[in-house]
Amino acid sequence: MAKMEVKTSLLDNMIGVGDMVLLEPLNEETFINNLKKRFDHNEIYTYIGSVVISVNPYRSLPIYSPEKVEDYRNRNFYELSPHIFALSDEAYRSLRDQDKDQCILITGESGAGKTEASKLVMSYVAAVCGKGAEVNQVKEQLLQSNPVLEAFGNAKTVRNDNSSRFGKYMDIEFDFKGDPLGGVISNYLLEKSRVVKQPRGERNFHVFYQLLSGASEELLSKLKLERDFSRYNYLSLDSAKVNGVDDAANFRTVRNAMQIVGFMDHEAESVLEVVAAVLKLGNIEFKPESRVNGLDESKIKDKNELKEICELTGIDQSVLERAFSFRTVEAKQEKVSTTLNVAQAYYARDALAKNLYSRLFSWLVNRINESIKAQTKVRKKVMGVLDIYGFEIFEDNSFEQFIINYCNEKLQQIFIELTLKEEQEEYIREDIEWTHIDYFNNAIICDLIENNTNGILAMLDEECLRPGTVTDETFLEKLNQVCATHQHFESRMSKCSRFLNDTSLPHSCFRIQHYAGKVLYQVEGFVDKNNDLLYRDLSQAMWKASHALIKSLFPEGNPAKINLKRPPTAGSQFKASVATLMKNLQTKNPNYIRCIKPNDKKAAHIFTEALVCHQIRYLGLLENVRVRRAGYAFRQAYEPCLERYKMLCKQTWPHWKGPARAGVEVLFNELEIPVEEYSFGRSKIFIRNPRTLFKLEDLRKQRLEDLATLIQKIYRGWKCRTHFLLMKKSQIVIAAWYRRYAQQKRYQQIKSSALVIQSYIRGWKARKILRELKHQKRCKEAATTIAAYWHGTQVRREYRKFFRANAGKKIYEFTLQRIVQKYFLEMKNKMPSLSPIDKNWPSRPYLFLDSTHKELKRIFHLWRCKKYRDQFTDQKKLIYEEKLEASELFKDKKALYPSSVGQPFQGAYLEINKNPKYKKLKDAIEEKIIIAEVVNKINRANGKSTSRIFLLTNNNLLLADQKSGQIKSEVPLVDVTKVSMSSQNDGFFAVHLKEGSEAASKGDFLFSSDHLIEMATKLYRTTLSQTKQKLNIEISDEFLVQFRQDKVCVKFIQGNQKNGSVPTCKRKNNRLLEVAVP
Ligand SMILES: Nc1ncnc2c1ncn2[C@@H]1O[C@H](COP(=O)(O)OP(=O)(O)OP(=O)(O)O)[C@@H](O)[C@H]1O
Ligand SMILES: [Mg+2]
Repeated sequence: MAKMEVKTSLLDNMIGVGDMVLLEPLNEETFINNLKKRFDHNEIYTYIGSVVISVNPYRSLPIYSPEKVEDYRNRNFYELSPHIFALSDEAYRSLRDQDKDQCILITGESGAGKTEASKLVMSYVAAVCGKGAEVNQVKEQLLQSNPVLEAFGNAKTVRNDNSSRFGKYMDIEFDFKGDPLGGVISNYLLEKSRVVKQPRGERNFHVFYQLLSGASEELLSKLKLERDFSRYNYLSLDSAKVNGVDDAANFRTVRNAMQIVGFMDHEAESVLEVVAAVLKLGNIEFKPESRVNGLDESKIKDKNELKEICELTGIDQSVLERAFSFRTVEAKQEKVSTTLNVAQAYYARDALAKNLYSRLFSWLVNRINESIKAQTKVRKKVMGVLDIYGFEIFEDNSFEQFIINYCNEKLQQIFIELTLKEEQEEYIREDIEWTHIDYFNNAIICDLIENNTNGILAMLDEECLRPGTVTDETFLEKLNQVCATHQHFESRMSKCSRFLNDTSLPHSCFRIQHYAGKVLYQVEGFVDKNNDLLYRDLSQAMWKASHALIKSLFPEGNPAKINLKRPPTAGSQFKASVATLMKNLQTKNPNYIRCIKPNDKKAAHIFTEALVCHQIRYLGLLENVRVRRAGYAFRQAYEPCLERYKMLCKQTWPHWKGPARAGVEVLFNELEIPVEEYSFGRSKIFIRNPRTLFKLEDLRKQRLEDLATLIQKIYRGWKCRTHFLLMKKSQIVIAAWYRRYAQQKRYQQIKSSALVIQSYIRGWKARKILRELKHQKRCKEAATTIAAYWHGTQVRREYRKFFRANAGKKIYEFTLQRIVQKYFLEMKNKMPSLSPIDKNWPSRPYLFLDSTHKELKRIFHLWRCKKYRDQFTDQKKLIYEEKLEASELFKDKKALYPSSVGQPFQGAYLEINKNPKYKKLKDAIEEKIIIAEVVNKINRANGKSTSRIFLLTNNNLLLADQKSGQIKSEVPLVDVTKVSMSSQNDGFFAVHLKEGSEAASKGDFLFSSDHLIEMATKLYRTTLSQTKQKLNIEISDEFLVQFRQDKVCVKFIQGNQKNGSVPTCKRKNNRLLEVAVP
């Protein structure tokens, strides 16, 4: 299936700006901020035009996967977000398709990621270029050259655990199809001083540690080595182990790589023997020995090590021993031999070790070249990858830094030249008017260093070759004379008085204003390092070795080819190789990778702004941007430009029929972009200002949103409509089905309802008929019954007289009559007496006569009572009335009452009328006497009684003396208010008088009488008939009587039988009168 190509751009989803050329405003701060922002988002790559800035992430990012390789493959440079693969792809395609040789220049300080970048470029190219067994072998050899060179040329430093201690330039050669054919590696300036001495915290080259850790015991004994690092003076011990590095495993990798690259087994062994020899050289120690001429001569302390070295290298021990003690200087035909002192011997030893190692390294590079060189003679396309140390500014800068910085000056120059050249060429190609670009050209600094007549390097060489005493100071003096007036040279002692008082500039130093900043160089060691002297005796001794490799490393030791001319100095050698390199680079299309180290801690996620700022300055990155932006900041071919922005104009959207250029013209006119902001090239549009581009981008973004909305709208509309139609269709189907179902259901329901109704109606009709039929039947039956009864009646009526049907009733009635008759007859005989108090009554003979019997008894009783009453005379009637009254008043209230019932009420017990004794009394009373009786009047004071005649008339109550018959007291009945008595069986009673009445002056009366009941009854009746008032009769065992002023309580108590049955009365105190009742 064809892969759909998606057109994208670097400008999509940018974090910060992906291309610094587009940075607005452009200054150091915005530059760093942009880098930081991108770094924080894991965007470690940023462009300056076609230059890639790479910030070391110090951790593995998932951006180098085979998928990423595929993403970037055959894509335009600005199509995807910045990546080293984009640059690699661009370079590779330009090489393959446009036949342009390429070079990739990777710069940056130690630890910035140059070597990693070079490996990434190589691996990308390897991944995208042609395939096939042969091609793959070439690729593999090219890639595997890296571990070998890294083992011998890299070391752990404080800045980088895998720091390249040499500069490397590798040409990868391709055939016309773009398949790799082979390669050529050039190396520059190996830091050989590291072999004999390492700064604190750093290590010697990896290979020494790898060999000791990873070699088998067998190999070690063959090389006469011991595994213990501490046995070797040349190995620094404090940092012999590097975190995360497995030296033993790496040794195996290196051996394997050597095999792949094409080293024979014996070659690899020879190499390790040389390494062992160098290691052992360090263990040779010297001691002074006095000579006859008074000078000290150095002697080897322990010859064991020397012996082993000689065995290893096949050198005659005496030759080597002599070479460490004597130095032969040959001039013309003369040979002068001088002895070496101990210091000179050590110097010679170290020089030998350094030379041996650096020559071995060069030999390795050559050997690798031999293996990887292209086999054909056909014309090749070349891609060069330069991984060289970047600009260095240390605290103490020496010859090495000077050389390195010189190299960087040259690279900067070539960058400027090529960038401008390319820019200019592009303008010409595109037919754009060239405008002058103002930028700093560092040619003047290069000239200061490399000028053949008065350049610093020339001065140094001159000084080294000069006879007489030559020191670093004399060299500085020379510089002070020659370079004094140079703008970029600064020295305290120069003729130029500018720096006389500059204390930041010590006397033994000079300072150069490089394009990337000022660097202060210590002049000490310049001469020595430039001379790079190895005593001829030593090189000759080496040449004499039977070890083929060592012999080949020291060709100048061959006496047959003796060359009295000095070997070229290090400075001039380097200058020459830099010049070659530059020449080489100038013929190629340059691609730049500028590596930046974000922090000093080798740690991920940390971005130290000051450190980055420093690097940006000396890498001249701002300068880069300015140069790049000098003319037009942005350019793009018409097609992609039109493609990207065509939606901004009606004429070009959605399709533009004409040529792309015309389309872009229409577009820009429509958008009213000022004409000075852009120019039309032949194939590209050139935009002067990033602002304009961003405006376009903003418009595009806005428009894209609108378009997205539009598409969304239409899509949603379409979707909704489709959905709606589907729903509608479905709805109809569902409705149809539902209706059918509903109708079916309804029909069923109606049907069953009809059936039910039908059945009910039928039932009802049937029942109705049944009812009628039943009715008819019953009518018939009734008629039959009635007829039958009627007939029966008729018949019975007719025949009754012939039956004894009523005999039972008649017998019953008769029997009943007889019983009743008998009952009444018997009752007549059994009647009780006519005494109303007779309770007898015959028993009831029959139960059914019970009510009759009771009624009869009642009637009889009423009848005999009537009979009884009818016998009464008026007088007797009165007596009975009184008795009745007495009963009502006292029955069940006074204990005396029952005894009074049998006594007839006589009233006048004293026959006053007849007794002459009471003649006087009788005369005094005119009225009818109701009661005349003797009573005991109780003395109020002591309770003793006196007899008095008690008389009651119609209106008065009278008391008279019993003997004389004289009236003692007379009380009108109206003044009598109350009679009090006890409930007991005594005859005491009190007559209460109305308070304030005349009779009451002496107080109430207290009497005792045998006829109390009669007297009280008569008093009550008389008072009622006379005064129409009911006399109050109080029956109580305790009541109050008024005696004169006092109220005395009369209390009835149960007395003893001592005094017989007569109650006794006693005044207890003035408040209490006690009556004891037996
Ligand atoms: N792209 C990267 N991804 C992950 N880690 C990286 C990357 N680049 C560099 N590093 C890390 O940084 C370390 C230093 O990188 P490198 O050796 O390439 O630096 P250099 O610039 O070559 O330094 P020197 O000048 O000392 O040789 C590497 O060992 C690796 O751990
Ligand atoms: Mg490196």
